[in-house]
Amino acid sequence: MRRVKIIGTGSYVPSKVLSNHELAARIETSDAWIVARTGIRERRIAAPEEATSDLAFAASVQALEMAGLSAEKLDMVLVATVTPDMQTPACAVHLAHKLGAKNAFAFDLSAACAGSLFAMSVASQYIATGAVKSVLVVGAELLSRITNWEDRGSSILFGDGAGAMVLVPTEEADSPERGLLKLQLYSDGSAADILCIPGGGSRFPLTPESFLARHNKVSMRGREVYKFAVTALVQAVERIFSEHNISLEQVKHVMAHQANVRILEAILERIGIPIEKAHININRYGNTSSASVPLTLDEANRAGKLQAGDLILVMAIGAGMSWGAGLIRW
Ligand code: UT7
Repeated sequence: MRRVKIIGTGSYVPSKVLSNHELAARIETSDAWIVARTGIRERRIAAPEEATSDLAFAASVQALEMAGLSAEKLDMVLVATVTPDMQTPACAVHLAHKLGAKNAFAFDLSAACAGSLFAMSVASQYIATGAVKSVLVVGAELLSRITNWEDRGSSILFGDGAGAMVLVPTEEADSPERGLLKLQLYSDGSAADILCIPGGGSRFPLTPESFLARHNKVSMRGREVYKFAVTALVQAVERIFSEHNISLEQVKHVMAHQANVRILEAILERIGIPIEKAHININRYGNTSSASVPLTLDEANRAGKLQAGDLILVMAIGAGMSWGAGLIRW
């Protein structure tokens, strides 16, 4: 079984910035409240003509370029998203077509904010068995299209963006320590209603009434999500370390899904990892769901902050609830 390494990363955020002050002019909130409760100062909003595969494309081009791989060499394109271009076919199919990834099969994966970790896990299994050699994993979200902009409890959180990673098997020449060491995933559907888009699916197809009631937009019970997230991710991370002969002190970087900086602070404090090890960009991008981990990874990578051999802790949680944690040796 081959281990997986990341040989290219890329990211993209739309150019339009939406600040807390602009939001406060539309709904009853304030910059001070949003910063204090979430750490968010601004987020990016896609242009009307942009769709999720456009964001994914821009991030993917960068990742492929860094990997030194042409799109035709890809065997598999996997997009984690809850905001595909259309209900069907998959966003990944549109992306593969735009990239010219003619030899790849492509599909989407829905695990909300934990999507990039779920996609990385799927890709690593395909690679480990030798079924494929090179996989493009993308987390891309256009959350501004599914945000209920009248709900101050959730609309302040979300932003648009994409992050991409090229995954291949480790080689003989690589350190035996390199690559994705462990990734454990979890799901709990009993908490499905605390964060969901209730309408527009087969359970509650859209009607004119439900459309007006915004049932096709995100519905969230924030405080419950917050508590669930802290408890679940602390357990997930503690399990990773208890099952491996790796100490917390060895972690150099934390690349976490950023939903709220307070959630991240609470988790790291309980686990005992200094917050300074976390790469944080939620202040600039808000919660970008499945894009946030690969987007953060790419920013750190391009800034030259990741050295060969560095141990990276990844974690993410989102609707489902779906969550996971893992370790990557860079
Ligand atoms: O990616 C995974 C998905 N999402 C998350 O992880 C989100 C998790 N949850 C959160 O981040 C937080 O729960 C929020 C940021 C959404 C809310 O923060 P909170 O500290 O949990 O506030 P709360 O919901 O308990 O509300 C406290 C007060 C309430 O007023 P009262 O009842 O105390 O008078 C809210 O009505 O704050 C009020 N409030 C606001 N005030 C100003 C709620 N939203 C706002 C707002 N501006 N935007």
